[in-house]
Amino acid sequence: MRTHFCGLIDESLIGQTVTLCGWADVARNLGGLCFIDLRDHEGIVQIVAEPSDAAGNAEVIAAAAHVGYEDCLRITGTVRARQSVNDKIRTGRVEVVAETIELLNKAEPLPFHAHENAGEDIRLKYRYLDLRTPNMQRMMRTRIKLVQALRRWLDARGFQDIETPILTKATPEGARDFLVPARMHPGEFYALPQSPQLFKQILMMAGFDRYYQIARCFRDEALRADRQLEFTQLDMEFAWVSERDVQDAVETMIREVFRDVIGVELDAQFPRMTYAEAMRRYGSDKPDLRIALELVDVAELVKGSEFKVFTDWAHHADGRVAALRVPGGAALSRKQIDDLAAHAAKFGAKGLAWMKVEDAGKGREGVNSPIAKFLDDATLQAILAATQAGGGDLLLFGAADYKTASDFMGALRLKVARDLGLVENAWKPLWVTDFPMFEWDAEEGRYVALHHPFTAPAADDEAELRANARTAVSRGYDMVLNGNEIGGGSIRIHRSSMQSAVFELLGIGAEEAEAKFGFLLEALRYGAPPHGGIAFGIDRIAALMAGTESIRDVIAFPKTTTAQCLMTGAPSAVPDKQLAEVHIQVRPQPAKD
Ligand code: AMO
Ligand code: AMP
Repeated sequence: MRTHFCGLIDESLIGQTVTLCGWADVARNLGGLCFIDLRDHEGIVQIVAEPSDAAGNAEVIAAAAHVGYEDCLRITGTVRARQSVNDKIRTGRVEVVAETIELLNKAEPLPFHAHENAGEDIRLKYRYLDLRTPNMQRMMRTRIKLVQALRRWLDARGFQDIETPILTKATPEGARDFLVPARMHPGEFYALPQSPQLFKQILMMAGFDRYYQIARCFRDEALRADRQLEFTQLDMEFAWVSERDVQDAVETMIREVFRDVIGVELDAQFPRMTYAEAMRRYGSDKPDLRIALELVDVAELVKGSEFKVFTDWAHHADGRVAALRVPGGAALSRKQIDDLAAHAAKFGAKGLAWMKVEDAGKGREGVNSPIAKFLDDATLQAILAATQAGGGDLLLFGAADYKTASDFMGALRLKVARDLGLVENAWKPLWVTDFPMFEWDAEEGRYVALHHPFTAPAADDEAELRANARTAVSRGYDMVLNGNEIGGGSIRIHRSSMQSAVFELLGIGAEEAEAKFGFLLEALRYGAPPHGGIAFGIDRIAALMAGTESIRDVIAFPKTTTAQCLMTGAPSAVPDKQLAEVHIQVRPQPAKD
C-alpha cells in the first residue's frame, strides 16, 4: 500500500513520488490551501494540498478539506523542500505535495484527543488510541529495545531460553495465587506461577547449566505504580555458581543494556550495601542514592530526656529513634509539616516530632520545636551536632519499633527530597545484600521468608541455622536503581535436609512440605548442583529507561489499580453453565454500599 514511512521522509527524497499511509494528526484548512500532518509509527510528515497546482487537483483539495483528526489516509505526492523549516521534527525540512488523497477509513469524533491531557481511565478504555500517540509509541519501543538487547546479550553467552508452565502448582513468592479450576479434576485447581522459581531450579538439576526466560508472572496483590497483577520478569538461573558469579554477570548485562538502549553509562562497579546498613542510613531496603540525605540515630542522645515517646523507644531492645535533617526546611509552614506527618502516618508513624533551627549556635534560643521543652540543653546541643543541623534547617524525628521507624522516616526522606528538589539527576544503581533470612509475622505468629523459602542461608548447616534463626542472614541479593528494586535473586538451597529445615522454621510441617514441595525435596536428593539466579522486573526497568513513574506506561494492556482492564472489561461474570463445567458455585456476595 505504501512506498515509504511518513516519519522517514527526508531531503534525499526531494523530487520523488511517494505513497504514504497514516493517520491525520492535525488538519488545517487555510481557505483552499490545506495542510495535513500525516502520522505513522515512525513519525509525522507535512502534506500540502495546493490550489495553484496543475489542473485536476480540485479533487485533492476537496478531499483534504474534509479530513478530520485520526482519519485513516493513503496519500501519494511529491517530496519537496519546505519553505518554513521546522527543526523540532525529523521531517521538518521537507513536505509532500499531495496528488491523491484516499480516505481509507473515516474516524468518528474521538473520545479524547491525543494533544490534550486526558485522564488515565479514558486512555485505558481506548488504549489503542492512546498507544497511537508518539509518547506511548516511544515508551513501548523502549521496552521492545530493552528485551531485544537482553536477549542478544543472553543468547551470545549460552543462556538457554526455556518455557515453563503457566498452569502449575503454587510457587510462593509472598503474594496470593491466581487459581484456575481444573475441569477434569473436580475441586482441584492449577495455580498461575508467581514466578518460574521451582522450574528454573529443577532445570539446573536437569543439566541445563544456564537458563533464561522472559517470563510472565502472576501475583494477586495490591496494585501500585510499580506493581501489576501480571508482569514480566527476565528470569535467570545458573548452576555451579557463587553469589559473586551471578552478580558480576548480570551487572555487566545491565550496564550493557543501559548503554545499548538509552546510551547511559552506569557505574563501572555497582556499590554494595548490606540490608542493615541500607535500613540504618536510608530507612529502606531499596535506597534511592540520588538523594544525599541520611537518617541519624539519636536514641543514645535522648535516653535521658523527658520526652516519653523517645525514651521508651530508646530503651526498647527493638526500638529506634531517628532524625532527618531537611536542608532549608525551617521555611516549611505548619500545614506543610502536618502534611509530612500525615504522609509518615501512612507508613505507620504515630506522630512526627520536629524542630526548626534558626541559629544552631544559639542552642535553645535558636530553635523552635514543640519538643524542645522536654530536652535539656546538653541533649539539644548533642542532637544539633549529630545531625549537623544549621540555620534554616528542619529536623524531623521518628520513634517506633526499628522497622516502623525506618519505614516512615525512609518514606519522609523520599518525600522531602522530591518536594524540595533534592533528587540528583543521575543513575544510581547498587546491590543490597545480607538480607535477613526470616521476618517475624506477628499476625500469623510465625516466621515468613523475606525472599522466598528456597533461598540459601549464610549458615553452613541446619544446626547453626536453627540456633540463630532470628538473626539468620540469607544469601539473597537485590539490584536497586534510583530507589526501585529492579531485580532480586539468591543462591538456592541445594540440599534436601537444609530445605526441610527451612520449611520447618517457616512453620511448614513435614506433611505439608511433602504435599506442596515433595517433588523439589526429592529432586534435591539426586545430585542437585549448587545453583543460584536472579529475576529482573522488565516492566520496572523499561519504565525507568522511558522516564515514566508508572509501569502501566510500558505495558501495552495494563490493569488499573482496581485490577480491571477498562478496554475489555475483564474481569467479568461467566454463565452458570460454564461455571458448572468447572464445578464452581459462586457464593452470594454481601451487598456493596
Ligand atoms: P522477586 O519477587 O523479587 O523475585 O521478583 C523479581 C523482580 O520482579 C519485579 N516484580 C514486579 N514487577 C511488577 N509488578 C509486580 N507485582 C512485581 N513483583 C516483582 C521486581 C523484582 O525485583 N523468583 C524470584 C527471583 C529469584 O530468586 O531468582 C522472584 O520472583 O523488579
Ligand atoms: P504529644 O506529646 O503526643 O503531643 O507529642 C509531641 C510531639 O511528638 C508531636 O509533634 C508528635 O507528633 C510527636 N510524636 C508523638 N509520637 C511520636 C513518635 N512515635 N515519633 C516521633 N514523634 C512523635
